[in-house]
Amino acid sequence: MAAPNIETVVSLSKRRGFVFPSSEIYGGLGSAWDYGPLGVELANNVKRAWWRWLVYERDDIEGVDSSIILNRLVWKYSEHEATFNDPLVDCRKCQGRFRADKLVEEFGAGEGADLASVACPKCGAHDWTEPRPFNMMLETRLGAVAEDDPASLAYLRPETAQGIFINFLNVQTTTRRKLPFGIAQVGKSFRNEVTPGNFILRTREFEQMEMEYFVRPDAEHFQLVDYWVEQYMGWYTGLGLARENLYLYEVPQEKLAHYSRRTVDIMYRYFPERPEAERQFEELMGIAYRTDFDLRQHSNKPEDAEGKRRNPDSTADLSYFDEAAKERFYPHVVEPASGVNRSLLAFMMDAYDERTTDKGEKRVVLKLHPELAPIKVAVLPLAKNKPEIVSMARAVKAELQPSMRTVYDDTGGIGKLYARQDEIGTPFCVTVDHQSLEDEAVTVRDRDTWGQERVKASELGEYLKKRLGIRC
Ligand code: GAP
Repeated sequence: MAAPNIETVVSLSKRRGFVFPSSEIYGGLGSAWDYGPLGVELANNVKRAWWRWLVYERDDIEGVDSSIILNRLVWKYSEHEATFNDPLVDCRKCQGRFRADKLVEEFGAGEGADLASVACPKCGAHDWTEPRPFNMMLETRLGAVAEDDPASLAYLRPETAQGIFINFLNVQTTTRRKLPFGIAQVGKSFRNEVTPGNFILRTREFEQMEMEYFVRPDAEHFQLVDYWVEQYMGWYTGLGLARENLYLYEVPQEKLAHYSRRTVDIMYRYFPERPEAERQFEELMGIAYRTDFDLRQHSNKPEDAEGKRRNPDSTADLSYFDEAAKERFYPHVVEPASGVNRSLLAFMMDAYDERTTDKGEKRVVLKLHPELAPIKVAVLPLAKNKPEIVSMARAVKAELQPSMRTVYDDTGGIGKLYARQDEIGTPFCVTVDHQSLEDEAVTVRDRDTWGQERVKASELGEYLKKRLGIRC
């Protein structure tokens, strides 16, 4: 099974220390969340798995880590200043403020529904203002300058992608890369979302894992989108998401972002409780064909029909010189853009399972892929008042720790300790008992089958590495 709804994961997260509502002691901050001891491990594991898969295991991708605050001109020429808007509407009766497109999507009566037919979710009225554009970039001021000094205005980046485009030549020349190749970046992005919500699905501060894949512009690269869709479907299902909980959505032309010629969204079933199948899914990530839009926009060379430079502010030409063909051009780009938080939520929802013990007690088991599990092994002494057992258990923990995240726990009876580890997704528990002192073996208990196996203490590390699929 998967989690029946997001709420189930919210309460598990709070109960066990994955994710907490942020600033709770001051009444919270709408839709901001803090990651606890297990959440930070899980998020780090998601990012590490992604980075390993793209940057280490492929031969055609480099990584970067650019600034969150970039020169404001980046956002002018990327056209985010002009176009990164959501349509905002107010309810005249209760002054509630919403995103018009989301209202129609969520509460409209099927295909072709319009805003007039939607009742205000807060007060039930049908009295909307005209939709107006609302720019989603979060503003800040740099330096000790007057608040209204326009020169001090800067934005927190709304996507990591631009930090890649402006570094395209830096990366290409320093690594001597030839096309095709990609540049990956993971990091925080910020959007002043009108209606954040649904736990960590839509927040104003979130993390992205983006990759820009640069290719020759000889042809339209619509099929490269399919290639990356397939790669990511493999990545997500390989790490545990069930195929039936994923769905591919070809974004219609009229809904494409300003830079995209084709986008396919991979959607996840975040809302299985909704009766209509089409409303159960929300975007997990998108794969967009951005053409040469961004590299051209940031270049000082491209000229319009009258021969006037379109970007008089840039000092560089981000074109690429193909040595073999002796040609200069702007590469085209296909961009798989995914979210750390949405991925983490999907992995948790899909891993959620319930099982009943012989005594009829319900247990939650989080069947996370071992690569993602926050803790790989829990070492549990069967008698915490027996110093030899405790010392052997501590020695086992110390030996495993350098190669896998291991914890030691003696704060309850064995049934309770197993239940606790099952609920947080620990793939293996290792128990040290009286017998261990004699035969120098321990019991390894499998989270998913609850099956137990006796393993020599001296072979434990290798045994667990194999079962966890740990790679260095
Ligand atoms: N560079 C392209 C880009 O940013 P996007 O579809 O707007 O594309 C990519 O964002 C991914 O970032 C989304 O699929 C989602 O996983 C994540 N994301 C976007 N906005 C988010 C938000 N407000 N909260 C959480 N994740 C978000």
